[in-house]
Amino acid sequence: MSSPVKHFLSLSDWSDAELNALIDQAQILKQRNYRSKKAEGKVLGLLFFNPSLRTKVSFEAAAIHLGAGTSIIAPGAGSWTLETELGAVMNGNKTEHLKEAIQVLSRYCDAIGVRAFSSLKNKDADYADQLIRDVAGYASVPVINMESAMEHPCQAMADWMTLRELFGQQDISTKKLVLTWAPHPSPLPQAVPFSVLDMASRSGINVTLACPAEMTPDPVFMQKFESQCTAHGSSLEISHNQADALENADVVYAKSWASPLIYDHPLEEARLRTEVYNNWTLTGDLMNRTRNASFMHCLPVRRNVVVEDCVLDGPNARHIDEAENRLHAQKAILMNLWNLSL
Ligand code: CP
Repeated sequence: MSSPVKHFLSLSDWSDAELNALIDQAQILKQRNYRSKKAEGKVLGLLFFNPSLRTKVSFEAAAIHLGAGTSIIAPGAGSWTLETELGAVMNGNKTEHLKEAIQVLSRYCDAIGVRAFSSLKNKDADYADQLIRDVAGYASVPVINMESAMEHPCQAMADWMTLRELFGQQDISTKKLVLTWAPHPSPLPQAVPFSVLDMASRSGINVTLACPAEMTPDPVFMQKFESQCTAHGSSLEISHNQADALENADVVYAKSWASPLIYDHPLEEARLRTEVYNNWTLTGDLMNRTRNASFMHCLPVRRNVVVEDCVLDGPNARHIDEAENRLHAQKAILMNLWNLSL
């Protein structure tokens, strides 16, 4: 009997030891500027329902550095539009079902990366992270989550690697990471903030979530992150006062996300995000309250809306390192899924 296919869908599917081993390997790959032909002849399919700069190029570069080729599939932009609902009567503008598309791609590709953001319309489907799980069910090769409704695990791995680089052998249990909500003209999914909280709550660092009360994620998620902090000897606090939360921070991660209110009260959500709380931009003055904190962001970032220029252009900004670490972390993930040794 063949063994089940191993995917990279969620940090929750992997143990701390497995994730730390991937980061160890990513650090070696980075130090060596690793290039090989170990994946020669393999094909990495990259299915993008949403735009990307970093994810697209870093996965292509990782595959090329391992000797593999890539194929980009962009439904509706050079590739057929894809229906994702099971049982859909496809008499509208969707040409092909995801079910056939993934089975066919599995015959051509040795792994498939999928990016499919939340629509922020169907709370149950989003919270179940249904689409990426459906893809894994249809696939017969490894599936990599390149950002789904609720998670961005590749970003989490690069962020965790960046934290390890920041603190080296220092005792991380004495450090404080603040994830601060920021305003934004568009409602953004919760995948990145959840992945930040997920990786940080497993890293041993003390975590503070700073956000307006209405932006607080659903308690079911916060309970998971709190349990993870407890299991790792750290703490999780929630503060609705940004200035207070930033006191003594060692790392500040800025990110905007839509309030959970968006599912039932989208107009109120927009008003809160763009009018009521538009003073939550991360400023240089706010950063002065920290312990000379490093600044992190997944990118892309809206300058002077999410964070001021002086922070992004300052000496403590680490967002470009984070973006670079996507390449190394994903190379380690591909090598693991393809059983390639160094
Ligand atoms: N951080 C990130 O995933 O960037 P892209 O959306 O550009 O891929």
